Amino acid sequence: MTRAVCPGSFDPVTLGHVDIVARAARLFDEVVVAVGVNASKRRLFSDDERLEMLAEATAHLPNVRVAGFSGLLTDFCAEQGAAALVKGLRGAGDLEYELPMARMNDHLSGVETVFVAARPELTHVSSSLVKEVASLGGDVAPFLSPAVHDRLLARLAERRARADQA
Ligand code: PNS
Repeated sequence: MTRAVCPGSFDPVTLGHVDIVARAARLFDEVVVAVGVNASKRRLFSDDERLEMLAEATAHLPNVRVAGFSGLLTDFCAEQGAAALVKGLRGAGDLEYELPMARMNDHLSGVETVFVAARPELTHVSSSLVKEVASLGGDVAPFLSPAVHDRLLARLAERRARADQA
């Protein structure tokens, strides 16, 4: 049984993430999507919300499960018995960001990092850009599942309402 971990913040999960997870699920027997739960980081969605959205977005993939993690990713991989990490690469910027982490994780535990090239139609999609564009009224529906899209618009509306009251 070969198991891989797909880690990230997923705030929120995009169709770019889902594509990478689905492709990892074809390469490995089991994929654990690892959602970083770090109380000190400010997120738009809570840990539980991000876990729930990922579980919904990957429900069609039978060999994928979702789990939260904190602390060192290499410790989580060891706990899960995962020999590989899978990360998506959208371009050179991602590689610059990911390579030191891949080397550090290899140094820490010998876990292998497998890079999957993002599909061209999704290379401009990131959680942060989707949040920014949606908050300014742009259409991000093509980049999110309908359920995540609804939650994002609702959360941004809540934020706006709160800001208007203040
Ligand atoms: O979606 P993100 O924010 O790019 O995900 C980053 C994540 C969670 C994969 C990264 O921050 C991480 O691996 N955090 C765990 C802490 C850790 O192990 N740090 C050392 C990495 S070499």
